[in-house]
Amino acid sequence: MSDIILDKQFEDRIEAGEVIEPKDRMPEKYKKQLVRMISQHAHSEIVGMLPEGNWITRAPSLRRKMGLLAKVQDEAGHGLYLYSAAETLGVDRQELLEQLLYGNAKYSSIFNYPTLSWADVGVIGWLVDGAAIVNQTMLAKCSYGPYARANLRICKEENFHKKQGFEIVATLADGTPAQRKMVQDAVNRWWWPSLMMFGPPDDDSPNSPQLMRWKVKLKSNDELRQRFVDLTVPQAIAVNITLPDPELKLNEEAGHWEFGKIDWNEFFDVIKGKGHMNQERMNARRKAHEDGAWVREAALAYAGKQKSVAEIA
Ligand code: 3HC
Repeated sequence: MSDIILDKQFEDRIEAGEVIEPKDRMPEKYKKQLVRMISQHAHSEIVGMLPEGNWITRAPSLRRKMGLLAKVQDEAGHGLYLYSAAETLGVDRQELLEQLLYGNAKYSSIFNYPTLSWADVGVIGWLVDGAAIVNQTMLAKCSYGPYARANLRICKEENFHKKQGFEIVATLADGTPAQRKMVQDAVNRWWWPSLMMFGPPDDDSPNSPQLMRWKVKLKSNDELRQRFVDLTVPQAIAVNITLPDPELKLNEEAGHWEFGKIDWNEFFDVIKGKGHMNQERMNARRKAHEDGAWVREAALAYAGKQKSVAEIA
């Protein structure tokens, strides 16, 4: 059968809401888009361990330390689910990691900002994990089965992270004047970068039209950003935190919170590598990867040994 007919059959399956599985026939462009998106997502999870990992030794109590340790470990797990989902498309995990560490693969802009105080840990859980949930709840219903299932599992864990973060924020917001000041300062720094996580505006998002046609994305960047703002403003009001946007106002008729202009120059600078922490994040990941070489070698040697035992038996 010609590619044109096969592509049409694929489009019909998507149109009918069918889920595509690894052994199904799919257009090369669909595969390419998925590898791009899933690998960027996987890289974001493992780079995302760094800003908060920075606070594990300085958490203010054993309870907070245990919560943060579990959270950072969950992010590593998310990276693994996602690299596995990418591998179902025939790419090699090692190759993807090399693109991140020694090439120019992208990962989320948000992780190029520094974590300056303990309050940042709470605010990341609340805003950054909150934004990730809004984005990934949709991806859990996307057309590619392995990616949808990975996101379903990720969202369940991100929900704990968000609750944990919001609890830290609420505690600090209800604390001493110094604690209130610290948490307000953290919100002032993380609010706008959290809105940028959803990607450029719809009319400047080259991948969206194709991804939406193929039901990889079910909502656009701007739609999800608006949903995040609508969910988050009432939460900020509930804990008496001010969001750093004088233009925020409720449009009762539309049922949305209107917000001010995002600084897209900052966003594009960060994704081009000119953020505060790009260099440091990559240096830290490279060091962790190189220091861990012996673990990979040992795991491979062990797997080889197990295989030869199985062959003898
Ligand atoms: N950071 C870095 N790069 C971004 C970006 C961001 N916040 N938003 C967009 N970009 C990049 C895109 O990757 C694309 O680059 P490319 O064409 O060179 O690959 C370019 O900017 C144009 O953007 P588009 O809107 O056309 O790109 P997409 O259609 O892919 O949409 C997206 C971007 C909304 C981020 C989408 O890819 C997506 O939903 N990805 C999956 C989710 C994801 O990666 N989340 C990372 C968040 S972090 C996280 O979940 C960790 C948790 O612990 C908090």
